[in-house]
Amino acid sequence: MDMGLCKRMDIDKIKLAVVGLGYVGMPIALAFSKKVRTIGFDIDKKKIRKYLGGEDPTREVGDEAIRNSLIDFTWKEDKLKEANFIIVAVPTPVNGDKTPDLSPIIRACEILFYTPCTASWLLSPDCHGQQKNE
Ligand SMILES: NC(=O)c1ccc[n+]([C@@H]2O[C@H](COP(=O)([O-])OP(=O)(O)OC[C@H]3O[C@@H](n4cnc5c(N)ncnc54)[C@H](O)[C@@H]3O)[C@@H](O)[C@H]2O)c1
Repeated sequence: MDMGLCKRMDIDKIKLAVVGLGYVGMPIALAFSKKVRTIGFDIDKKKIRKYLGGEDPTREVGDEAIRNSLIDFTWKEDKLKEANFIIVAVPTPVNGDKTPDLSPIIRACEILFYTPCTASWLLSPDCHGQQKNE
């Protein structure tokens, strides 16, 4: 993250969203939620319901950390419009023919396209050559 940009912004005005709350996204969301208002977004409603119920299905951060966190968990895309920074940590599975399945990244980018945030970061790997070709 560009810390210079954050320093120039009033911290109370920052709202971060993490898109994809798996093994990577959940610990990131938890760490940021200790400093700034944080939305935790995932398309998996069952997973979000578990987080809302104080359960950590990834076992990365533990139930207690989820229960004590201030993360605003949601599966509603509209909520992302409140965020001015977005971190994307969706999966990048591999197809049967060993090509990367970019559909989760494409779906996440489609959601971001309609979200007027200040900046977004894609943590998912770039799948060598795909950014150039797709
Ligand atoms: N696990 C690791 O050690 C590791 C390390 C470095 C990088 N990465 C990369 O980080 C990314 C995430 O990995 P992970 O292990 O957290 O995956 P994961 O499968 O544990 O979690 C991904 C989450 O994203 C959600 N998701 C899928 N499509 C979505 C969409 N369009 N919008 C919102 N949520 C969506 C899934 O429901 C899931 O909860 C991958 O691209 C992976 O390659 C993982």
